[in-house]
Amino acid sequence: MARAATAASANPCPGYATNYGNPEMGYGASPYPNPYGMPQVQSGADLGHQYVVGAGAAQHNQFELQTFKKPMWEVLTGRRDGRISLASQAVANIPSPFFNFTTLKQSFANKGLTLHDLVVLSGGHTIGVGHCNFFSNRLYNFTGKGGQDPSLNSAYAAFLKTKCKSLADNKTTVPMDPGSPLSFDSNYFKILKQNEGMFQSDAALLTNEGSSNIVDELVDSETFFTEFAQSMVNMGAVGVLTGSSGEIRKKCSVVN
Ligand code: HEM
Repeated sequence: MARAATAASANPCPGYATNYGNPEMGYGASPYPNPYGMPQVQSGADLGHQYVVGAGAAQHNQFELQTFKKPMWEVLTGRRDGRISLASQAVANIPSPFFNFTTLKQSFANKGLTLHDLVVLSGGHTIGVGHCNFFSNRLYNFTGKGGQDPSLNSAYAAFLKTKCKSLADNKTTVPMDPGSPLSFDSNYFKILKQNEGMFQSDAALLTNEGSSNIVDELVDSETFFTEFAQSMVNMGAVGVLTGSSGEIRKKCSVVN
């Protein structure tokens, strides 16, 4: 059984991780040696499930324990790629940080993802940064006439104001999970419960009883890791190309 860690180290298309598949961004050459070059393989959807080649389950368990100490998940390989990538399509399909609970839930449902997936996957914000312009309205102009978002922890808001000095700032970035932005842990859910979620879309998870209950459950790291693995599999199944849609690339960085 292949696991994400294996998949990550064998990712034949590293450009996707950062460029979201937009050829206009210009991919670098694959840093991986030939065994990891993208073979022209049939889609897993056509041939049945294919898993990243790796060691046996027992060895993976060892690997998990020693390296990540977290559950990993199976990744299907042999996917078909689209022939065009448009930034406008990406923007039209991803949820906005200004969404409320209803619009967030709907945007996940549109992709076949549940409320549970929404809350669990929002835990991805345990890592990384957000640009000020995606949340500074919560600091300076929440009502449209100035003012702060009352659902934002006031001490945290004061801290964020020291980083994002005005509504015009679209350059500065701030860690989304204050305290442990480089660590994949369940701390996002802890800070969320302290009203320190950075975006309105984070805070929105507390505005519904069902989702708020899920947040409570995910504070427990073991629960979060297990559920995250499952929801990543669910998200990985969104919009998979099958049949004659798209193509299997000869070179992963360019269309055939
Ligand atoms: C629930 C709906 C979501 C919304 C509204 C949302 C919104 C955002 C926004 C606005 C940013 C900051 C981008 C920037 O300032 O450059 C961000 C960053 C990030 N998001 Fe999400 N996101 C969502 C779901 C997810 C999911 C499902 C994952 C992964 C499981 C995820 C993982 C990340 C990561 C890792 C970053 C940091 C990127 C970096 O440091 O450059 N997000 N998200």
